[in-house]
Amino acid sequence: MKPEGVVKPDASAEPGYATQTNGERAKVQPGNNAPMWRQVGSGVTGYSSLPAPEAGNLIQPFVQYPGSRLTNAGEAWRQVRNHWLIPYGGALLLIVLGAFALFYWRMGSIKLHGQPSGRMIERFTPFERSAHWTNAIAFSILAISGLVMAFGKFFLLPVMGTVLFGWLTYFLKNAHNFAGPVFAVSLLVVIVTFVRDNLPARGDVNWLLKGGGMFSEHEVKSGRFNAGEKVVFWAGVFVLGLIVVGSGLLMDKLVPGLVYERSTMQVVHMVHSVSNLLMVAMFIGHIYLGTLGTEGAYAGMKTGYVDETWAREHHELWLDDVKAGRVPAQRSQPLPPSPTVQV
Ligand code: HEM
Repeated sequence: MKPEGVVKPDASAEPGYATQTNGERAKVQPGNNAPMWRQVGSGVTGYSSLPAPEAGNLIQPFVQYPGSRLTNAGEAWRQVRNHWLIPYGGALLLIVLGAFALFYWRMGSIKLHGQPSGRMIERFTPFERSAHWTNAIAFSILAISGLVMAFGKFFLLPVMGTVLFGWLTYFLKNAHNFAGPVFAVSLLVVIVTFVRDNLPARGDVNWLLKGGGMFSEHEVKSGRFNAGEKVVFWAGVFVLGLIVVGSGLLMDKLVPGLVYERSTMQVVHMVHSVSNLLMVAMFIGHIYLGTLGTEGAYAGMKTGYVDETWAREHHELWLDDVKAGRVPAQRSQPLPPSPTVQV
């Protein structure tokens, strides 16, 4: 039975609903301003005194992507963010975290096989460490704030409530904006500082083919940085780092001479999100191997020095270079054996 009072318009008899102007519609259906919204949705440019591009367009026009229904471009972006980037990006990070947790649980950290010699060798100069830690701290602020902004509503909002979560994300968004430029500048310094020792060398392919010898008794010999570190340097620091920084500067509208339309921001947002998720996934591995995963690696980055035994077991070709004086002399600083050697 048809509900009383609801009259279904007969398409053949309807008085041109689809083509009515706002005035015409107001006469037959006072208060119904659907024609105006139809114009707005079709991308009609109205008057605005704001100088910003597209300020006269209330919403983006409808578009039809191949294989999908007619949709508003802003809504299409929202669908991509909520139904692709968030679930698949979140799943990627959980899988990577789970994989490293499982690896640590089953294999533990890579321990030193020999006894510490007590002879310490400078692995990172104070300048290298400052560049690395400035970059690492900025990266951590960016990663934490970015992850809370993207995924926080699923795991923090239910616990904190809207007011606290609102303040937290407001604070983190500003922290993100301040840490961004610090990361950008320190990333360039890190790239310039470490590029020479990350250039491809003989033995890198062999190292990769053997997985660095991780599952055997001895690591495959390598120079100052092994092929795994070089992959992280080129794919993670150089390529992803520069894309993340470039798209971040675009999102802050810091690249001069560009017209920042909504569609520009939507594309840039997607590039920023995807590259960030991949970079965070990669750096979970870097941070794991630099801390829990490899005994003695963190001490090298913290104090600048590693024990000679550590150098021989992880970077034997580099140790040979240091001993033969083929790398700058200040890298090597023999110290008297000490009973409390930090490895
Ligand atoms: C956030 C925490 C981080 C920790 C705990 C950490 C830890 C370490 C450690 C222990 C090393 C020394 C490895 C060795 O002696 O071979 C290292 C090297 C390095 N790290 Fe980090 N790192 C962090 C973040 C970052 C970030 C954000 C970047 C750059 C985007 C970065 C770039 C590098 C580079 C370029 C090297 C030199 C090795 C290479 O070129 O492959 N690190 N890190």
